[in-house]
Amino acid sequence: MQHLLRSLKVFYEMVDSRACLVAFDPGFWGYLGLEMPKEHPKLTEVFYELVGREDEIEAILAGKASGLTLPGIRRGDRYFSLVIATDSRGVAPAFAVIEDTTEACEARQLLAQDRNEIFLLKQSLEAQNEKLSSLLGIIRDQNHSLETKVRQRTKELESSRYLVLTKLARVAEFRDQETGGHIYRIGRACALIGKVLGLAVEEREILYYASLLHDVGKIGIPDSILLKPGPFDLAERTVMKGHTTLGAQILEGEDHILFVASREVALGHHERWDGSGYPEGKAGAEIPLMSRICAVADVFDALTSKRPYKEAWPIDRARALVREESGKAFDPEVVRAFDEVLEDILRSRAGVEDLETLEPQFSGPGLPGYPARSRKRASPPSCPSMPWSSTRGPLTRGSARGRGGSTGPSRPAWPAASPWGGTRWSA
Ligand SMILES: [Fe+2]
Ligand SMILES: [Fe+2]
Repeated sequence: MQHLLRSLKVFYEMVDSRACLVAFDPGFWGYLGLEMPKEHPKLTEVFYELVGREDEIEAILAGKASGLTLPGIRRGDRYFSLVIATDSRGVAPAFAVIEDTTEACEARQLLAQDRNEIFLLKQSLEAQNEKLSSLLGIIRDQNHSLETKVRQRTKELESSRYLVLTKLARVAEFRDQETGGHIYRIGRACALIGKVLGLAVEEREILYYASLLHDVGKIGIPDSILLKPGPFDLAERTVMKGHTTLGAQILEGEDHILFVASREVALGHHERWDGSGYPEGKAGAEIPLMSRICAVADVFDALTSKRPYKEAWPIDRARALVREESGKAFDPEVVRAFDEVLEDILRSRAGVEDLETLEPQFSGPGLPGYPARSRKRASPPSCPSMPWSSTRGPLTRGSARGRGGSTGPSRPAWPAASPWGGTRWSA
């Protein structure tokens, strides 16, 4: 029995009626790191943890209490539990039993230590997270501020681009005999037609400004020809035709999409769907879509406007001419779209006297171009790179139509006997 208890690291000694330990087992004392005493020491002398609990011990010795337990007593590097218990067999008034709990205590200590470390680590992580969040906040604020600045600068740049182009268009118009607001009416008509053809808001806005510049090349045409009241001779007609390439030259060298589009419209607005136009004799979908749209809007407006050399055509007559030229001068798809929005085109210019100070509404309720909105641009559009060129989607079908035999010097000039101005080139 003693052997078994020792293997479990359990030792005991008897306690006599005076609450003294009867020194009997050297193992008990050795476990406590003490020499086995010759006398019987008081319980409280050996276990000072019991000081103050003498009454309880007395009650145990008197058989009035069954026992008491003190866990976690430490001696050196050992931990043990002390139990003072009565002896039911009556051998002694009580026993003092000690049980080694070092492993359990150490495990508990390690656990507590781990918990502490985890807690400290968590606290440190939370502090670092807080710092990180604050830094991210600062970075976000700075990014926002930079983005705002960039947006503002971009906006200013866009505004100045549009302003310069608009002024350039007006300069060209002043030199011509076009009626007031011609370029703006064309711009509006182009935007309306473009919407039917599926152009996005940004594309319609680009188209609007590009079409304002369709005749910018007239800046370079001598007054003697540009302002000539009578018909042109062959040489004069050739010079006049040069306003397309001149316009393209004026607008080249700038890769902003607004300039690229304007250049294409300036160059291509006298091309014909059947390939007999100028200056390059392009046909069908080879002609940039914006040029094809501008061609219809330009001719319609020229026909319906009074000029020094002709009266304004009635709307129905001009409409009939545009329809007649579908597949010849004009892209049939563009003519169809023009037909669809003709009422809107007419409304967009009716009753508006100061056209050049008004810009169309490209988005929101209603059709673009009508009703007109305020004089100032509220927010110039961003100009993303757009696939609006002549190879665009459904509008490219029939690209080869009307092309046959159209290029070369024998190609008839357009219009050979123009119903919109006799032999006078007018648009
Ligand atoms: Fe022109
Ligand atoms: Fe024109």
